[in-house]
Amino acid sequence: MHCRILGAPVQDGTGRKGCEMGPSALRVAGLVEALTELGNTVEDLGAVTPESPLPVSHRNSVLKALPEIAAWTAALADAAYQASSDAMPIFLGGDHSISAGTVSGVARRAAEIGRPLFVLWLDAHTDFHTLDTTTSGNLHGVPLAYVAGLPGFDGYFPAVTSAVDPKRICTLGIRSVDPAERIALKEAGVLMYDMRAIDEHGIAPLLRDFLARVIAENGMLHVSLDVDFLDPAIAPAVGTTVPGGATFREAHLVMEMLHDSGLVTSLDLVELNPFLDERGRTATLMVDLTASLMGRRIMDRPTRSY
Ligand code: ARG
Ligand code: MN
Ligand code: MN
Repeated sequence: MHCRILGAPVQDGTGRKGCEMGPSALRVAGLVEALTELGNTVEDLGAVTPESPLPVSHRNSVLKALPEIAAWTAALADAAYQASSDAMPIFLGGDHSISAGTVSGVARRAAEIGRPLFVLWLDAHTDFHTLDTTTSGNLHGVPLAYVAGLPGFDGYFPAVTSAVDPKRICTLGIRSVDPAERIALKEAGVLMYDMRAIDEHGIAPLLRDFLARVIAENGMLHVSLDVDFLDPAIAPAVGTTVPGGATFREAHLVMEMLHDSGLVTSLDLVELNPFLDERGRTATLMVDLTASLMGRRIMDRPTRSY
């Protein structure tokens, strides 16, 4: 596989500084080396440059850094479209607002190729707010609603050229959903597997069902991995920890199943805040999970004491 790495050092989408250092930490933790070791060719394109923010104001006065995130979204959508021409792009966040750009860019590519795009959202949160419904004002809470084509982004964020059908979106690991998101998710028909579903059924059959749907439509698959999908005990370096997350074994199993499926065409690694990490253990885990997604087998896994 040919991988293109794109840094998206964005932190204005969260209430907390530090995600800007995410791409560096992932590189220091050995992302390029791990991918290369697995036989991939890797092209590290460095950091994407945002467009210049245009002043905009919005009726929702709690919104934070709307011009900045809109400018990043435009630049990342462009970069993602370009990078997905003949390679697998891997986007290094940055907070989860980067996915407004990365997913809309690969969606445009999928539409051009003529294949449907599916999205697997691995997260404690659904990030399904619109600019009107967010009460925190943090724009890492809106990207999934934006790429699904929900109304209210027009005139603020770049126009979505190819929205992702909400029925082709699967959120997995969910354990924190705001009331307005719950209503919007239901209405849109997004597939939601929360922690209760994982506990009751096990994570493997849930993922297998979704992957079967991707196969049935010959879809492309974008995976968006938020650090807070993982349990805070194994992944402390994130500003929005929620207890009861995916375990080390569940997370690796998901990645290994994704690799075996051969379906993944693009990947986001988001919300890593190295300032909150403990001796790099979260960055290292994110790299190890990426390695599993790219084909590292359990027998070849390095033994680590996190
Ligand atoms: N729903 C909350 C909000 O809108 C939390 C969002 C957390 N998102 C994330 N990408 N960590 O503020
Ligand atoms: Mn998220
Ligand atoms: Mn989250």
